[in-house]
Amino acid sequence: MQSTLITGIGELVTNDADPGAFAAVTDAALVITGGKVAWTGPAARAPAADAVVDAAGRAVLPGFADSHAHLVFAGERSAEFAARMAGRPYRAGGILVTVEATRAASDAVLRANLRRLAAEMLRQGTTTFECKSGYGLTVPDEARGLALAAEVTPEVTYLGAHVVPPEFAADPGAYLDLVCGPMLDACAPSARWVDVFCEDGAFGADEAAAVLAAGRAAGLDARVHANQLGPGPGVRVAAEAGAASADHCTFLTDADVDALTSTPVVATLLPGAEFGCRQPFPDARRLLDAGATVALASDCNPGSSFTSSMPFCIALAVREMRMTTEEAVWSATAGGARALRRTDIGHLGVGARADLIMLDAPSHAYLAYRPGVPQIAAVWQAGRLVAGASL
Ligand code: NIG
Ligand code: FE
Repeated sequence: MQSTLITGIGELVTNDADPGAFAAVTDAALVITGGKVAWTGPAARAPAADAVVDAAGRAVLPGFADSHAHLVFAGERSAEFAARMAGRPYRAGGILVTVEATRAASDAVLRANLRRLAAEMLRQGTTTFECKSGYGLTVPDEARGLALAAEVTPEVTYLGAHVVPPEFAADPGAYLDLVCGPMLDACAPSARWVDVFCEDGAFGADEAAAVLAAGRAAGLDARVHANQLGPGPGVRVAAEAGAASADHCTFLTDADVDALTSTPVVATLLPGAEFGCRQPFPDARRLLDAGATVALASDCNPGSSFTSSMPFCIALAVREMRMTTEEAVWSATAGGARALRRTDIGHLGVGARADLIMLDAPSHAYLAYRPGVPQIAAVWQAGRLVAGASL
C-alpha cells in the first residue's frame, strides 16, 4: 500500500492526547497509509515512505469539521444583509425569501450551488461538513434537498421544521403533522439527523420535542437550533431529547449552561451568524469554564451567515468570544467531530482518517492572528491531496 510521509512540520496539531483538549507537537512528521494516519512523531524519527512531502516548517492540522451548514438553496439575500447593517433587525421571516427561490429552482441549479459551496469549503480546509434541508418545506422539495445533500456528504440533516411555510400560516399544526408524518417518511432515507428551529416565530418547545421524537422513531438522531435570537427552551429540549448538539446557544440561562454541562450535548457556537446579524456573540468562556464541550461551525446559509470559512469563525471566536487559539482550533476540528458523533475525524491520532490541512504559517494561532488572509496551503481528504497541489 502506498505511503506518504509529511515531514518538516513546524507544528502538528494532533488533538490525540486528552480526548477533550488541544494537543500539538513541534518538529514533527506524519505518515499516511490507506487513507488513514499510520504514524505521527518527531521528524527525526520518521520512518521511510513511498512519497515524501516537506512542510518546510509549516503547521499541519486536522481538517475542519463544520457541523452546521444550510447549503441547499437558490438565490441570495444581500439586500437583506445590507438593510440589517443599516439598522434593521434580523427576523426568521427572511428564510421564506429563500424558500420561494429554492422551490422555483431546478435540481441542476440547486446541485450546482451546493457543489460550488462544498468546493469553497474544501479549499478553506473543511474536510467534513453537515448539510441541512429546510428551504423546501414541501414533501418533494425537502426530499430532493436531502437527496442532493447526500450526494456530497454523509452528514445530512432533515430540517423540515425550519419555519412554517406561508400556505400553512393559518394552520401550523397541520404543518407539524406533515413534518412528523409524510415529509419525514420521504426524507428519512436520505438523512442521518433531524433538526428543528426552536425559537419564537418558528417552533415552540412541545412542537420541537414532537419533531425530534418523530425523527428518532424514523432512525434519525437529534440536533437543535437553540437560543439563537433570545432566551428560550431550545437547549432544554435538546438535552431532554438526547440531542448530539444544541446550536447557536447565544442567549443562555444558568439552567441552560447546567443542561449543557450535565449531559453530552455539544454546544455548537456559530459566530458567523452573530457577525451577519450584528448580535452579541455567545459567551464561549462561560461555557468552557463551566465544562461544556464547545464546537464551532459556520452556519453557512444565505441569510444569517453567508460564510463558509472556518478560519473566519476561529478568528471571531478568539477575538470576540474569548476562546484561546488552542480552544478555537480544537472546537473547529475535534469539537465539530463530537457534534457529529464522529471519532474518525477531528484528530490526527493513529487510525484517524487522514483529513488534514497544511497552513502557509508555522502555527495554528495564525488562523486568528492573520484574519481574512488565505492561509490554507494544502488539504488532504482521506489521504488524497485535494487542494493546493503546488506544494
Ligand atoms: O441557523 N436559524 C435558523 N436558520 C438559519 C438562518 C437561515 C436564514 O436566515 O435563511 C440559522 O441562522
Ligand atoms: Fe442554522
